[in-house]
Amino acid sequence: MLIFAIESSCDETACAIVKDGREVLSNVVFSQIKTHQKFGGVVPEVAAREHLDSIGVVIKETFEQAAISPKEIDAFASTVGPGLVGCLLVGLNAAKTLSLVHNKPYIGVNHLQAHVCANFIESDLKPPFMCLLVSGGHTQVIRVEDYDKQEIVASTIDDAVGEVYDKVARLMGLPYPGGIMLDKLAQEGNPKAFSLPEAKVGEDEFSFSGLKTALLRLTQSFKGKEMPIKDICASFQHRVSDTLIKKTVNLADKYNYKTIITAGGVAANSELRKKLAQLNDKGYITYAPKMKYCTDNAAMVGSCAYFNPIKCANSLELEVFSRD
Ligand code: KG4
Ligand code: ZN
Repeated sequence: MLIFAIESSCDETACAIVKDGREVLSNVVFSQIKTHQKFGGVVPEVAAREHLDSIGVVIKETFEQAAISPKEIDAFASTVGPGLVGCLLVGLNAAKTLSLVHNKPYIGVNHLQAHVCANFIESDLKPPFMCLLVSGGHTQVIRVEDYDKQEIVASTIDDAVGEVYDKVARLMGLPYPGGIMLDKLAQEGNPKAFSLPEAKVGEDEFSFSGLKTALLRLTQSFKGKEMPIKDICASFQHRVSDTLIKKTVNLADKYNYKTIITAGGVAANSELRKKLAQLNDKGYITYAPKMKYCTDNAAMVGSCAYFNPIKCANSLELEVFSRD
């Protein structure tokens, strides 16, 4: 089954053609990061307009890269939420239009489920598994019993991990989105340079607001002096990745899951991937998406449209939504 998928929930205009949920025939991502950098974050109205400007070109490029014509496509899919409503509408209307013009089904996809499905691309992963989903808007541990049978067993009570990365990066004067840059600097620093607090919350909760405040105080303590930025980044990254892995492993043990995977933009983080891979020596089987499928892309939407579409009687009636 060939699916043409669109992702436009935030600041990436992306299209992909995916075969049977696992094989990517083309994958085009147009990032708006440069536009939003000057504002220090995504401006929703500006993002929606940029999606409108670029969607046509991205669709054309995606068909050309795969050397496939729209007539060969079996279904057209798009992310319907959660995300920025104006942005989602651009992808939804483009996909529904393609579906009507070519007389093929339209499939709606949940963005978070799509991040999970990034792990099926070019891999042999099958449920059941425990998934640590870490993105700019979400931090969850999801128990995936089957492709379409999932339960959230832990989530954040305040900020999402990606959000904390971006806020801490801003404290240190790094450009938006700070996650990647902070990760790079952390790799050159000493993770034990500063001892940072770990939130005392329930096994089904994450909390990062205390850590964020500790980082604010730490950076302020260097006012007027040179800040040991690499050591601060390394210490922060160590604390975050340690907490994420520890909690996920505890939940995997509790529910008796041996396969642990990660997903979402922060799954691109070097330390998190390293700590996850180290679990292989402890008897777990681990998976992480290829780097290009961690941050927002449409290949994961194409995979999700195949494995775990939003179920509804008439998908053309599906509307976008901002929050899960
Ligand atoms: O999944 P994603 O592309 O968008 C959302 O659905 O939110 O995630 C974006 C988030 C941003 O906060 C970004 O800073 C973070 O993922 N991120 C990283 C890394 N690469 C992207 N955070 C830590 N380390 C990275 N290497
Ligand atoms: Zn995302």
